[in-house]
Amino acid sequence: MLLRSKKGRYGYVQLHNPPVNAIGREMRAALLDAVEWAESENLERVILSGEGHGFAAGADASEFDYAPEPPHLPDVLTRIEKSAVHWIAAIHGVALGGGAEIALACRYRVARPDAQIGFPEVILGVVPGAGGTQRLPRLVGVKAALSLIPTGKSMRGSDALNIRLVDALSEDPVSYAEMINSEWLDMAVPSGELNTGEAREEDFEEARKFASRKMPGQSAPAVAIDLLALASTTDLEEGMLEERRTFLHLREGTEAKALRHLFFAERGAKKPKTITAKPMDVATVAVVGGGTMGAGIAYAMLNAGLHVVLLETDPDAVERASSSIGNLLASSQKRGLISDQERQGMWSRLSATTDYAAASKAELAIEAVFESMDVKREVFKKLEAVVPRDAVLATNTSYLDVNEIAAGLDDPTRLIGLHFFAPAYIMKLLEIVRGDRTSDTALATGYALAKSLRKIPVVSGVCDGFIGNRILARYREAADTILMDGSNPWEIDEAMEDFGYAMGPYAAQDLSGLDIAHANRRRQDLTRNPLRRYIPIADRMVNEGRLGRKTSVGWYRYPGGNGKVIDPLVEDLVREEARFAGVARCEIAGEEVQRRLLLAMINEAANILWEGIAEKASDIDLVTVHGYGFPRNRGGLMHYADTLGVRKILEELSTLAAEDKIAWEPSPLFSELATTNTSIVDWRSEMPAANSTLMRSRRG
Ligand code: 3HC
Ligand code: NAI
Repeated sequence: MLLRSKKGRYGYVQLHNPPVNAIGREMRAALLDAVEWAESENLERVILSGEGHGFAAGADASEFDYAPEPPHLPDVLTRIEKSAVHWIAAIHGVALGGGAEIALACRYRVARPDAQIGFPEVILGVVPGAGGTQRLPRLVGVKAALSLIPTGKSMRGSDALNIRLVDALSEDPVSYAEMINSEWLDMAVPSGELNTGEAREEDFEEARKFASRKMPGQSAPAVAIDLLALASTTDLEEGMLEERRTFLHLREGTEAKALRHLFFAERGAKKPKTITAKPMDVATVAVVGGGTMGAGIAYAMLNAGLHVVLLETDPDAVERASSSIGNLLASSQKRGLISDQERQGMWSRLSATTDYAAASKAELAIEAVFESMDVKREVFKKLEAVVPRDAVLATNTSYLDVNEIAAGLDDPTRLIGLHFFAPAYIMKLLEIVRGDRTSDTALATGYALAKSLRKIPVVSGVCDGFIGNRILARYREAADTILMDGSNPWEIDEAMEDFGYAMGPYAAQDLSGLDIAHANRRRQDLTRNPLRRYIPIADRMVNEGRLGRKTSVGWYRYPGGNGKVIDPLVEDLVREEARFAGVARCEIAGEEVQRRLLLAMINEAANILWEGIAEKASDIDLVTVHGYGFPRNRGGLMHYADTLGVRKILEELSTLAAEDKIAWEPSPLFSELATTNTSIVDWRSEMPAANSTLMRSRRG
């Protein structure tokens, strides 16, 4: 856990817990030992650094589900701070959370300019628990601390020097620490003994506003702000006691559990355990179609350093696509996301043309053309004729059958779905669709691409809408039923916003356009169970030209193209449709709206899991949070479902099924879970991808 050595009166302690030097019980105990060792050896200084890629990534979050065991980090750090031996933090790589708190307790801090220092605890639903909220404001002032701790942001070593979070910069912090003059060290006042300086109420107010905008519904940022305020009015010891009490309380709460679950799910998603094939080396990507999605995908690829050949149908479309990408680049530069040099580099790696032969060197080709089986099949025929024989082919289809697309290829094993979300250069989620014949190489290439694009990959089997859009379709269907039976769109939206969605289902539809879902329903007309209850209200909206924001009128009205307002005509329209359908509408409470919509999604997601479309429940959590606005602090749909409990879900679904068996029949997954007493998230969480055929055979 620690590597220890000494040279003369200098001690060297290295944190050693690969891969990120997370600080767990053993390391805390070893640090405490090291303090005693340094004192007993009568050392003059200890230079503390991290082994491997960084200093320390913070407390070991996997311990947070268990009772805290001594020695506790705040006590260890108080020992370091008060020790007669001066400890110097020599920081390279990350010093995050508890890692940064160790540095704060040291007498002196030297960092590499490219080090990453910060306090991401609020992202895990907690606050710093080892003195961060009390020592940091004493060291850098309250205002600077407010910009770090409640936001969870980290900063580079060079910026940390500007706010005096570190004392010096060096490419070789350990050597620098050896050179520090002993008298300086003697004079350096421990951060805990400093004064926080003046705290202005407007700085706190601004921080509170920022937190509620950026992390809506989450309590940790506001609590962190209160603790920073406390630092100005109390002494270190009392402040630390309050901080520790708060940290432990938050750590056990539902919010922190949910955020922790997502933290580990996000990390787990990046490392598929069963795909061992080597990915294709991709340097050039062909993107076919430069509309909404194609332009965004091209931008994301360019931003990852790849060359892009963009193919369009005619010169005008080439021109439109190029100018969309040019605009994206310019606006990124304006927002400071890329430099002028980077913009120029990205632009120079783009070529746009109608000539498919230009794709002859592409190791990966992805189509984002119209959502039509015929158009997509034709595009792949043309691609097959030009790209290298081992190039991977990908479709960005939202709903079409990837197996059917693959069936039109000479080599169906090289096709995968790469389902990006709009805007493709911002949204983190990437559904990687595995067709029945998709090769491991194609899948591995999808994963490698996700990594270079910094996306969160989730593998989905083939079904209508894959994981995310299939759940979305059921959500909307359940909402439409409530609409018909008694609520207005804005009442349903309000209920889901109260649950934590930034936007309810109707406001969201207005944003994406009602025509997309309408086209999808028409595609499903042939296969829909004729006995399934069908709500025609959305069709009528489309027939009346109410397509959402794009027509300034949808479920809401958008006078002047912005700012949504309630439209009484929609209420009339809904009432009329209910009369046509012979439905006696009645008031439905907000909680009932929430209950039904959530249960509808949970049941659909359970079927997705049961059928092996999703490999594990945490993948569904990632999809719902990163693609569909499910509130992050609830941990994703399946984690939330577990908080309700399998038996309760089964009971409620059975009650609803008595009303409408087709819509609400409980997924077979719940009976199995109830019998085996397993939570949803734990069910086959280690299921290898290769076993998905076994899972498919379970389909009931
Ligand atoms: N606790 C436990 N495990 C951690 C961890 C932590 N704090 N940080 C990272 N890990 C694990 C990951 O789960 C992953 O494990 P796996 O290989 O089994 O999947 C492994 O370390 C590597 O992590 P990444 O895949 O994320 O590696 P990257 O190189 O992409 O990123 C990182 C490294 C920037 C350090 C990133 O992991 C990170 O941001 N970690 C979280 C940092 C954090 O939140 N620290 C605060 C913890 S709370 C705290 O310190 C409380 C204190 O105030 C008392
Ligand atoms: P879009 O209509 O904005 O763009 C489609 C583009 O494809 C047009 O520029 C068109 O000129 C071009 N095109 C059509 N046929 C072509 C051909 N044979 N060769 C080259 N270019 C051709 O459509 P959008 O929204 O970008 O959707 C594209 C695909 O992405 C669809 O399959 C859609 O389902 C999917 N998708 C869309 C999402 C969205 O939010 N819009 C999200 C995720 C997937």
